[in-house]
Amino acid sequence: MSGTNAAEKLERVYQAVRGLTDFQPKVGLVLGSGLGDYAKNIQVVYELPYSEIEGFPVSTVQGHDGRFIFGMLGDIPIVCMKGRVHYYEGYDISDVVLPIRLMGKLGIKVLFLTNAAGGIKTGFSAGDLMLITDHISVFAPNPLIGPNMADLGPRFPDMTEVYTKELREKVLEIAYEKDIPVEQGVYCQLTGPTYETPAEIRMLKTLGADAVGMSTVVEAIVARHMGLKICGISCISNLAAGLNPNPLSHAEVQAAADEAAPRFTMLLTETIKAVGKNL
Ligand code: HPA
Repeated sequence: MSGTNAAEKLERVYQAVRGLTDFQPKVGLVLGSGLGDYAKNIQVVYELPYSEIEGFPVSTVQGHDGRFIFGMLGDIPIVCMKGRVHYYEGYDISDVVLPIRLMGKLGIKVLFLTNAAGGIKTGFSAGDLMLITDHISVFAPNPLIGPNMADLGPRFPDMTEVYTKELREKVLEIAYEKDIPVEQGVYCQLTGPTYETPAEIRMLKTLGADAVGMSTVVEAIVARHMGLKICGISCISNLAAGLNPNPLSHAEVQAAADEAAPRFTMLLTETIKAVGKNL
C-alpha cells in the first residue's frame, strides 16, 4: 500500500475509533505472548475487538486474541493491545504498524512494547526478562518506506536512542527495588514465521544481536517516527536454535512466557505507574 493510502486508512480508522470512544490514553502497551491476561490489572473502560474496526488487521495467531483495551492502570489512562499482527501473517507492513500509529493519534506519549524472544547472548536462560537497549532492523521491511507521512514525523528519523534512556533507567530502578532480575540487550526482528537455523543464530550473534523475534522493531520504528517515548522488554522464552538441544515449538515459547508472566506483569505495572505520573 502506498504511503498516501496508508495515511488515508489511518485517518479512517482513527475517525472510526473516535466515533466509538473519547477515551484519552497517555500510555500504550502492546502485550506479547504470555501477557494475554494483563488486562485483569486494568479497570476497563472500553474494549474494542480489532474485528469491529473496518479494514483493521486481525491477528490469526493462536494466543493473540485481538482487541484494544482502554482503561485505567491505577491513575494512568492506558490503551493495551491484546494481540498484535505480525508481518508473516501476510499483511502489508503498513497494516502491521497501523495500530501503533493509531495509538499515537489517540494521544499516547509513551509506548511499552513486549514480546517473547529467543535468547542468543551467552548466559541467557528461558524465562529471563531482557530490557531492550537497541535493535537491529535490517532483516525486516522498513515500515517508513513510501511517501513520508509528514504530519506524523520526519523523512529521515534519527535512531540513536529508540528505546528512551530515561525509561530504561526507570525499569532498572524498579527491577532493583522489586528484586526482579532483568537482563539487557539488543533485539533483532526477523520476518518469521520459521524459527532461525543454527547458522542464522551464529550470524545474528556475530552481528551483535542478543535476542531474536518476529515483532517489535517495525512498531518501534513508527513510534520513533512519531516522537513517542519507547520502552521495550522481551521475555526470553527459549534459547535460540542451536543453543538449545531441543527443536523449538510454539508451545514451549508460550509455556516459558506464561511462567515469566507474574514477574513481567509486576515490572510493567510498577514502571507504567511511575512513568505515567509525570505525563
Ligand atoms: N526465534 C524467533 N522468534 C521467537 C523465538 C525464537 O527463537 N522465540 C520466541 N519468538
